[in-house]
Amino acid sequence: MSITNGNEPAVATNLSNGAKAQDVAVVLLGRGNLHGNRLQDGLGMISARMADAYDDYHFVEALLEQGEESFPNALDVCVEAGARRIIAVPVFFPLDPPVVNWLKSVARQWLRESNSNVVITFTESVMESPLVPEAINGSVEYALSQGKPLEAKQRANNNEEHPAWSVIPPHKNHVLFCQGPRCTASGSGDLGGYLRKRLKEEGLEEDAGHVLEAQTGCLFPCNLGPLMVVYPEGTWYCGLDRAAIDRIIEEHFHGGQVVTDYAFNPSPERQSTAQTQNPYT
Ligand code: FES
Repeated sequence: MSITNGNEPAVATNLSNGAKAQDVAVVLLGRGNLHGNRLQDGLGMISARMADAYDDYHFVEALLEQGEESFPNALDVCVEAGARRIIAVPVFFPLDPPVVNWLKSVARQWLRESNSNVVITFTESVMESPLVPEAINGSVEYALSQGKPLEAKQRANNNEEHPAWSVIPPHKNHVLFCQGPRCTASGSGDLGGYLRKRLKEEGLEEDAGHVLEAQTGCLFPCNLGPLMVVYPEGTWYCGLDRAAIDRIIEEHFHGGQVVTDYAFNPSPERQSTAQTQNPYT
C-alpha cells in the first residue's frame, strides 16, 4: 500500500518500477525496549547489515515505542537525505494489524503536516517471507553444531538473583512515564531521556531516594501524550514538552506543588486533548 498527500498518485511497490534507487529511503521499524539500547540491539544490527548489502538505499531506523527515533522523525530524516520515495518495513513481531494501520495513519498525518510530495509505501510483514523458515532453521543448525549449552551452576552468579531486585527503592515520588506507540510518535523518546538527564542534574534520581522513574507502555489516554503520572499524588501530566518537564521538576519534585498548567484530572467527561482548556480543578 502506498500513501500520498493527495497531490501525488500512489505508485507501485516494486522498487524497480521507475524509482531511482538513490531517491529511495528505507525505514526499518522496530518496537524498542525499556533499556534504551536500541542502537546496539537487533534493529541497529539489521540496519547495518542492510546498508552493507544494499548501498543504493538510505536506511533509517525508527521505533514504534520506547525510544527514538520516532517514525515521524525518521520520515523527516529521509526527506532531509533527499528521498522521494520511502519504504516502511515493519521488522517487529508480533505484527498486530491495528498497530500497522495506526502506523499508516501516522504516515498520513506526517504527509499532511509536512506537505511533502514524498511517496510512502509499506511492505508486507517480513515475518510472512518464505525466507523466514530458512533463516530460523539456519540458526537452529548453528546452535546444534556450535551453540554453547547453558550451565545451571552459573545461575547463582547471574543478575537473575541480584539482591537489589528484592528491594523496593526508597522514593518520594514514583513516576510512570509513557513510552507507548502514540506517545513515542509525539516525542516521548526524546522527553524520557531529557527527564532522566534533568533528574540527575538536580540530584533527584532514585539513588538519592527522590524520584523513582519507570518507563511504561501505553497508559491509555494517548491523545493527551506525551504524558506521565506522578505518585503519590496521582497527578496526570499531559501534553509534555521540555519546558513542562523543567517546571514539574522545579515546582513538583522540589517544591511539592502540582503544576496545574499541565495536570489533568482523571475524569473522562472533562478531557479530550492536550490542547483543550486545562480541566484540572
Ligand atoms: S501511548 Fe501513551 S497513553 Fe497511549
